[in-house]
Amino acid sequence: MRILFLTHSFNSLSQRLYLELTGRGHEVSIEFDISDAVTLEAVAMCRPDLIVAPFLKRAIPEEIWRRQICLIVHPGIRGDRGPSALDWAILNSEQEWGVTVLQAAAEMDAGDIWASANFPMRAASKSSLYRNEVTEAAAVAVLEAVEKFEAGGVRPEPLDDARPDVRGQWRPAMRQEDRAIDWLHDGTATVLRKIRSADGFPGVLDEVLGVACYLYDAHPETGLRGAPGEVIAHGNGMICRATVDGAVWVGHLKKKQEREPAFKLPAAQVLGERLAGVAETPAPSPQPSPTEGRGGKTWSDIRYEEKNAVGTLHFEFYNGAMSTAQCGRLLQAYQEAIRCDTKVIVLAGGADFWSNGLHLNLIEAADSPADESWRNINAMNDLARAILATDSHLTISALQGNAGAGGVFLALAADRAVAREGVVLNPHYKAMGNLYGSEYWTYLLPRRVGEERAGEITGNRLPVGARQAKELGLIDGCFGGDAAAFRCGVEALAESLAADAPALLAAKRAERHRDEAGKPLTAYRAEELAQMKRNFYGFDPSYHVARYNFVHKVPHSRTPRHLALHRRIGVK
Ligand code: COA
Repeated sequence: MRILFLTHSFNSLSQRLYLELTGRGHEVSIEFDISDAVTLEAVAMCRPDLIVAPFLKRAIPEEIWRRQICLIVHPGIRGDRGPSALDWAILNSEQEWGVTVLQAAAEMDAGDIWASANFPMRAASKSSLYRNEVTEAAAVAVLEAVEKFEAGGVRPEPLDDARPDVRGQWRPAMRQEDRAIDWLHDGTATVLRKIRSADGFPGVLDEVLGVACYLYDAHPETGLRGAPGEVIAHGNGMICRATVDGAVWVGHLKKKQEREPAFKLPAAQVLGERLAGVAETPAPSPQPSPTEGRGGKTWSDIRYEEKNAVGTLHFEFYNGAMSTAQCGRLLQAYQEAIRCDTKVIVLAGGADFWSNGLHLNLIEAADSPADESWRNINAMNDLARAILATDSHLTISALQGNAGAGGVFLALAADRAVAREGVVLNPHYKAMGNLYGSEYWTYLLPRRVGEERAGEITGNRLPVGARQAKELGLIDGCFGGDAAAFRCGVEALAESLAADAPALLAAKRAERHRDEAGKPLTAYRAEELAQMKRNFYGFDPSYHVARYNFVHKVPHSRTPRHLALHRRIGVK
């Protein structure tokens, strides 16, 4: 079938559905929701068999849904209606939630139901649930709905609030008052729920040390205590604030400003000198010791654990963005890890993202974005090089979460790269203002997929699903329907590599030796960085413009041609 996606943006959920549907032979064209007139034009040009709206913030024009079936993906259980579905589910401590695929109709989210899928809730932020459970459930429900539509003769179920399986109800847009934190009364669990219900957007509005700002990236702290509401510590850019029964770490803040646009930054950077007098916690201890990170009980973005001959390095960086400082700390943790008496290092990334490359927000906030871009890419390269040059251990990049741009190529620096089945990769840089990219990608990619495919992968600017990535040779394995199954598979792989370590390490050293003799890593790096220098400092400002638009979330003014197939000249 020819399917048209009407969507606010090509976000992770839309990308996953795109991959599922194109993988089943459907032709999927995409149009961003820019205006009703543009949407009408797109439908007329595309003449789709079916319209799917994976991520829309406004209603589809009536003229369209009256004429043909439009399926809306709603992140709520059957009967749930309204724009803050997941926010309410988190705030109300729902135990089970779901995704419903409904037909667009006059009343928002009240159209006939084509399919739905439920999942158990998890203590996590809204975006984490969206990227994991909601995306998995949406894939199931959308495929079911599309199959029913294709088969024909199936009538969707009208929404019937009286049915026992319809537990949802209409809920209004959540307001800041609904989730405002009362630091003098709220316990840690409540504070976490409130922040998580608004993370990534819009954030809970609060005041920290006299600064009005939105809070994001919250984690429980059980070791430190203080007067409720007080900022009791900071470290690695995060701040720790006491609750009535414990404390929470808050990693990111966005200033509330009337005029100047603001974006999320590490909390300590936003607060600056206001943190003078607040104790800095001891530097994180990425040392291979207990599994719970810094101080045993304190949350840490970098954490190391060891089991038998396998060391695992977790790096849970907010939104997968890796700043110069984070790359430096991870490099240090990595170097300490490979000094241990283990055979295999698993680079586990975070639960939501493995890595999305350079920290574009911090670059945007720097006095000289060009200089900060330069420092950041060099820090990424140092890390990639350390992984590539490791001859004492075998290394595995284990992608439980998605990866984009330099994050994908960093993963390829390990001896094996494996991904959870639902993972979506964006192995290209071009979407960021024609960025050339580094992280030794010119060495890492062709040796895996060949020159021709490397050109296609980086030039197409399209997402690649884990299964497809395995078929292309981009990664070595794809398994595990969920995080737990994936971790089991990674553990088994790591154990098997450890068992074979002497032979595998000998082969690895020989291959690296051969490759280095052919063309040294320094030469790849120098060539890539020469191009990057042009991107950062050259005449063409495309990268700086694209980064500004990305960080400031400037709305799209058109759908790129590589997504809007119906707008390509000559496409029938
Ligand atoms: N630096 C800073 N923030 C980043 C980031 C980066 N490299 N990559 C993603 N983010 C942030 C987004 O701004 C967004 O922030 P929000 O929580 O305020 O909404 C959040 O992470 C999720 O990103 P989003 O684009 O909504 O996720 P997605 O799953 O739909 O798309 C990508 C994933 C990787 C395709 C997309 O985020 C992207 O293109 N990132 C930039 C990659 C890049 O060019 N890196 C620099 C070159 S190495």
